[in-house]
Amino acid sequence: MKNFTFQNPVKLIFGKGTIAKLASEIPASARIMITFGGGSVKQNGVYEQVMAALKGRTCTEFWGIEPNPKVETLRRAVAQGREFEANFLLAVGGGSVLDGTKLIAAAMPYSGDAWEIVLDEDKIGDVIPFASVMTLPATGSEMNAGAVISNLETDEKFSFHHSFPRFSILDPETTFSLPPFQIAVGIADTWVHVMEQYLTVTNVSPLMDRWAEGIMQTLLEVAPKIRADQHDYDQMANYMLCATMGLNGFIAMGVPQDWATHMIGHEITALHGTTHGQTLVVVLPALMSVMRDQKEAKILQYGERVFGSKDIDSTIEATENFFRSLGLPTRLSELNIGRDTIDEIVRRFTERDTRLGEKGNIDAPTVKKILELAK
Ligand code: NZQ
Ligand code: ZN
Repeated sequence: MKNFTFQNPVKLIFGKGTIAKLASEIPASARIMITFGGGSVKQNGVYEQVMAALKGRTCTEFWGIEPNPKVETLRRAVAQGREFEANFLLAVGGGSVLDGTKLIAAAMPYSGDAWEIVLDEDKIGDVIPFASVMTLPATGSEMNAGAVISNLETDEKFSFHHSFPRFSILDPETTFSLPPFQIAVGIADTWVHVMEQYLTVTNVSPLMDRWAEGIMQTLLEVAPKIRADQHDYDQMANYMLCATMGLNGFIAMGVPQDWATHMIGHEITALHGTTHGQTLVVVLPALMSVMRDQKEAKILQYGERVFGSKDIDSTIEATENFFRSLGLPTRLSELNIGRDTIDEIVRRFTERDTRLGEKGNIDAPTVKKILELAK
């Protein structure tokens, strides 16, 4: 096992009716900027619950943080937050709203431009305290320090890691209104987060392995039930907790990590706007295939324990079939993404001299093989 330091300070407040707890969790004297996406919270009653809990507080609202949050939008939020002299930020929505808010929190006290922080998290100094009401289980952003931000001008999408939410409120009832596609890509994103931290080598930590496998087995169990009835509170609660546990550091202690699927997926989103989880299900099966020799022992362990399969090919097929069972296409051609995109991604990775994966050996030519197999 590798040496590690683990610290996760996020207070997780989970369950029905918990949005009301905002009243006691945010200091009475706070000047709060509440950040939102495009309006889903006005349709599902979340907005009313938040405003009821914060009745009488000093608040301003910033609307319009879009999926794959854009730095161009977040700069406007930084300006509004400064003008209002906000000293507490509350993100209400999905991972994009929270990721955007993580950048706002770091950029408000920063003298330079917000994009500089995305490119170099060492530039971050003071950070405005922030918290979340998370309405979409997928990213784990509610309990991690990561944020992924896009730049419209340069067609880039990069992540930075710095600070955690003070607390996150997760009420599974808020997920009842999710479009089925967002649930499908949310389950897929959670699955691939687990795989990025798991599908490397065997015999490092049997405990991390079994926690990771436990999350995937739980997802396999709940996914069809949620597809049948997304108002099933207990199943949505299980899914929501899987998403949080999939990327809050608990399954990453002392083990190597991969993350190549995510890095390749981010490029597809940067170039096409493709939804994050959708990009991952296209890349992962192809990556497993191309990296089959290096990952052989772990693929076999995963196949046997998660799907009951006996060889690499049937394990990759079972993985792809699971994604398809969610209703998601798993090939670039099904998304109308062709050769130009593959060439551009390979060009970018060549230019950046990118080396991905647990051994740092997924270079531009390997990425090309992966994307060609994903066609
Ligand atoms: O904007 P609104 O109107 O709120 O609608 C959103 C949005 O259109 C809607 N939605 C959210 N909750 C809803 C709802 N609709 C109905 N009912 C609800 N309860 O869903 C749409 C998608 O929302 P978004 O926040 O973009 O989805 P998600 O949570 O999947 O976040 C995706 C972003 O997170 C990044 C991705 O790259 C992408 O930019 N990631 C962040 C990570 C992290 N912070 O650790 C890790 C991940 O790997 C990922 O990269
Ligand atoms: Zn992800």
